[in-house]
Amino acid sequence: MKQNVGNKIVLIGAGDVGVAYAYALVNQGTVDHLVIIDIDEAKLEGNVMDLNHGVVWASSRTRVTAGTYEDCADAAIIVLCAGAAQKPGETRLQLVDKNVAITRSIVEQAMATGFDGIFLVASNPVDILTYVTLKSSGLKPHRIIGSGTVLDSARFRYMLGELYEVAPSSVHAYIIGEHGDTELPVLSSATIAGISMRRMLEKDPALEARLEKIFEETRDAAYRIIDAKGSTSYGIGMGLARITKAIIQNQDVALPVSALLQGEYGQADICLGTPAIINRNGIRRVVELELTEHEMARFTHSADTLREIRDRIFPDGA
Ligand SMILES: NC(=O)c1ccc[n+]([C@@H]2O[C@H](COP(=O)([O-])OP(=O)(O)OC[C@H]3O[C@@H](n4cnc5c(N)ncnc54)[C@H](O)[C@@H]3O)[C@@H](O)[C@H]2O)c1
Repeated sequence: MKQNVGNKIVLIGAGDVGVAYAYALVNQGTVDHLVIIDIDEAKLEGNVMDLNHGVVWASSRTRVTAGTYEDCADAAIIVLCAGAAQKPGETRLQLVDKNVAITRSIVEQAMATGFDGIFLVASNPVDILTYVTLKSSGLKPHRIIGSGTVLDSARFRYMLGELYEVAPSSVHAYIIGEHGDTELPVLSSATIAGISMRRMLEKDPALEARLEKIFEETRDAAYRIIDAKGSTSYGIGMGLARITKAIIQNQDVALPVSALLQGEYGQADICLGTPAIINRNGIRRVVELELTEHEMARFTHSADTLREIRDRIFPDGA
């Protein structure tokens, strides 16, 4: 078996999301070698050519090649963006059966090569597919990362930044739970330019309704974007590139991802969006936020919703 100490990435699924991720990765010059696999070989070849033609202007060289499963053997990270995408009006959870079958087949083929790195899952419903990847790969939980609520949290930070006229990088706020309809904002630990949102809410109770509206717009943003242009891609592409950089550069940075919960938030044996410390080994640890009673009730509801789907996919237990 080859060692996975380099920074070769294998991206499986080069549709709108996969290509947006590849483009962000090449621009940022994070990795030496990006291999892309897709069942649509003609489209793949075109995308690989197109991406390589931009490399000359990137901050450092990335080799982009079309590949096969053999490339997984010495990859540091396999990124899963394959599968059917949400159609207008379709929820992420309605995609489940199609994408579970695709994910299982991909993970089995990757593991057959002796792959010994980290899986980063973006295909939807991402929390369920993160769990499926964990079970199908047999790898330790810290090696399985779902993109979780990284995109939702980025959207929320952007929208709060617009409201307060500060850069989103100066807004710290997490969306946690399912990447989907039951997710929730954690206002109790949010800060805007260092000012606690909890204090802001104490001073101005009317703010709560405005913030809930911003959260609803965040939660439903994918539906609006999909209605308008057929898919969401740039935001998740940048989010996946951010997680990749955290792994490759061993950053120990806190990012909201889908991780296996093992007692945190009173939950076990389920993958759900939560902040976690990400480094070269994958998930160093899950960060258990201190939630209010109301936030905890919403998180529990989100976990219960996903548990029902998990139990349908794994009827005899995992
Ligand atoms: N996690 C997030 O925040 C987030 C955000 C947006 C979209 N998504 C999800 O990402 C996934 C991809 O979305 P998209 O818009 O790029 O879809 P898309 O239809 O544009 O692309 C999917 C790609 O997967 C390929 N594919 C299908 N089966 C395959 C297989 N077995 N092996 C290799 N390639 C295969 C297809 O040929 C296609 O190129 C969807 O599940 C979507 O819901 C996740």
